[in-house]
Amino acid sequence: MQGRIVRGRVPRKPHTRHRDANGDLLYEECFTRQGFDGAYSVLYHRYRPHEQIHRGFTEGFAIAEAVAERGLCRRHYKTWELPANGPSPLLARQPLLFNDDVVVGVLKPGVDDDRFFVNADADDLYFMHRGSGKLVSPFGSLKFAPGDYVCVPRGVAHRFELAPGDEQYWLSIECLGSLEIPRGYLNAAGQLKLDAPYSHRDFRVPEFLPPDEDELRLLTVKRNNRFHAFECAHSPLDVIGYDGAVYPVAFQIRDFEPRVGQVHLPPSVHTTFQATGAVICSFVPRPLDFHPEAVPCPYPHSSVHIDEVLFYVSDSFESRKGIGAGSLSHHPAGIPHGPHPGAYEASVGKRSTDEMAVMLDCSSPLQATSFAVQTEDLAYHSSFMA
Ligand SMILES: [Fe+2]
Repeated sequence: MQGRIVRGRVPRKPHTRHRDANGDLLYEECFTRQGFDGAYSVLYHRYRPHEQIHRGFTEGFAIAEAVAERGLCRRHYKTWELPANGPSPLLARQPLLFNDDVVVGVLKPGVDDDRFFVNADADDLYFMHRGSGKLVSPFGSLKFAPGDYVCVPRGVAHRFELAPGDEQYWLSIECLGSLEIPRGYLNAAGQLKLDAPYSHRDFRVPEFLPPDEDELRLLTVKRNNRFHAFECAHSPLDVIGYDGAVYPVAFQIRDFEPRVGQVHLPPSVHTTFQATGAVICSFVPRPLDFHPEAVPCPYPHSSVHIDEVLFYVSDSFESRKGIGAGSLSHHPAGIPHGPHPGAYEASVGKRSTDEMAVMLDCSSPLQATSFAVQTEDLAYHSSFMA
């Protein structure tokens, strides 16, 4: 996602002999996307990376299933009501809304992963609402803290270690197509343009770990919504070095550089990531519109191709009332949406906002799961009536 990096020892040319200190030949693994046409990394393993024993089906997190068809309404889910201190991250995800492109969920893990996980169905994007820890993979150890996005490319074996004593409360977005930096932010050389809302330096990459023979060897792979157990003959962390452009990254939401105009700018200026069928946007504290006659509150809008999802990080949001940190709202295409009664007028003259939220605009209709329905605020749709 962030261009080529090099860690550890790699040979001068790919696909040539590379040996360890004992003279033993290392095993190259080409980790590729879009077949052999997309971004890739090349890793050098001490052992053959494909020595895995299949142990049958196993358990994983809940797969999204739709509840019975419901009316076309604005919805609000109080995700803080979902139980805390759950199982490991691999098991703790609770899907809330989904379509063929994304699965949006919340997880509140309580213990470390006891095995590695490969999501072969999706790129995973997490937003760490609360809690810290690290993500361990053959690419190294990536620390995370509240407010971080953590991007895990599909196929990367990884496990989470949680900081002791922290409450963990994460938003998860499974991107079943691909998750990328918006193309418009990149120049022809693949660099982030100088007017992109972040720079390469804002993305944190894993700290490389030396090979660890004692690492866990159990692996769960999700493919086609089934979980498969494997036992690796050797530790997945047997990597001597790698280079390439595919690896997990972290990005702190407060490093997003917001755009402000004389008058209200559309939410697309907050676009942070692009997924197949969705964009992910970051609303962060910022000055508000500065035209003397500006109405800083978002105008009501009918975004006729878009189902909008907002996850509220802070308790305040310029256009909405009655939401709290951890609220998840869903405003479907087909009906206009806009500010709560009074918010439009109250915004006149305001100079700044401390709102913080993650938004998804999805191009296909989203369906809700039973996890969402059990936390639903049933008064939400009518709360927009004056
Ligand atoms: Fe909207």
